This record gives sequence, structure tokens and C-alpha cells, in this order.
Amino acid sequence: MLLFREKIPTTWLPKVLVNLPAVLVDHAHLERKAATSALNLEKFRDLFPRVDDLNAIAIEELQHFQLVLNLLKKRDIPFGQAYPSAWISGLMRAVRNGARHQVIDHLICCSLIEGRSCEKFQVLAQALVSRDPELAAFYQGLVESEGNHYATYLLMAKEIDEPETHRRLDYYLQLDAELIRVPNPLPLLH
Ligand SMILES: [Fe+2]
Ligand SMILES: [Fe+2]
Repeated sequence: MLLFREKIPTTWLPKVLVNLPAVLVDHAHLERKAATSALNLEKFRDLFPRVDDLNAIAIEELQHFQLVLNLLKKRDIPFGQAYPSAWISGLMRAVRNGARHQVIDHLICCSLIEGRSCEKFQVLAQALVSRDPELAAFYQGLVESEGNHYATYLLMAKEIDEPETHRRLDYYLQLDAELIRVPNPLPLLH
């Protein structure tokens, strides 16, 4: 179950639907960054017992990346440059220093990014059913996996320090709610 306190802005879906090629390029980068985030988490001592699970996530994200690249090729959309997301950098800027604080904050950020992806892929899949059934099925096919990543990252943080995770989750859900309200004209998923 997703815990978000603020709905996706109503301007998001129309913006995405009229910019699908650019959104797919952004999505490709998002999967690439999700794979590297999983690998980067492996450097934290508190996550050494979870290294196999993090590898599994990284492999899955890399497979998603390849699926998006295949779709780009099929649709003659050139792979292009990545644009920074103010929402993601806003979350990441709040990551604290200090080994345990850092790993918990990182895990919560990753969890919220996965959770918002899961939520947005679901919305996109529904909106695309009649206008682009292939893309609708593609996004529907990713919902479960991103939802599992959301839950796994949150669980990993709780395993390290449950009360601290709850405190920081409360903080991050508030931050997410504030950041997601900031209008963003770029054709990005986040
Ligand atoms: Fe993914
Ligand atoms: Fe994911």
C-alpha cells in the first residue's frame, strides 16, 4: 500500500500524454538510475546482509532499462540526454550525513521514487488503454515490480532501525507532498 499524502498533480498526465517520446527517453534514464542506485546501496555496511537482494533489484532495473530501449528502437525514438528532476534532487538533497542516517535516508528516497513510479505507471497504463494499447500493457507490466521495490527498500530501512525509519518517513512524505506540488513543465515522469 502506498503512503503518499499528496495526489499526483492534475497537470502531470496531460503533459506526459502529449510528450510520449520524450517521456520514454526520460523513463529509460530512470531505469538506468534505478539500477545504479541499487548498486550504490551495496556500499553501506548495514546493507551487506542484503547484497544479493540489491543485486536482484539492480538486474531487474537493468532489464527494465533494456525493455525501454527496445521500445525506443521499435518506435524510432533516438536515445537522448537525461534531464534532472527537481523532485528527485529535492528528496536527495535532504539525505543526511553519518553512516546510519545516510543509509536510512537513501533507502527511503529510493522507496518513494519506486512508489511514485509504481503509482504513475498505473495511471499512465489506464490512460493509454485505448490510445496506445502496446504502451499501456508495457506500463501495466512494470507496476508490480516497482511496487515490490518500494516495499523492499522500506523494509530494508526498517530492518536497520525501525523507529528512525518511521521518523524519517514522516519527514520525507511531507517533503514529497511539498515538492510534487511545484509545477514542472518538463516532460519527465518525476
Ligand atoms: Fe524499474
Ligand atoms: Fe524499480
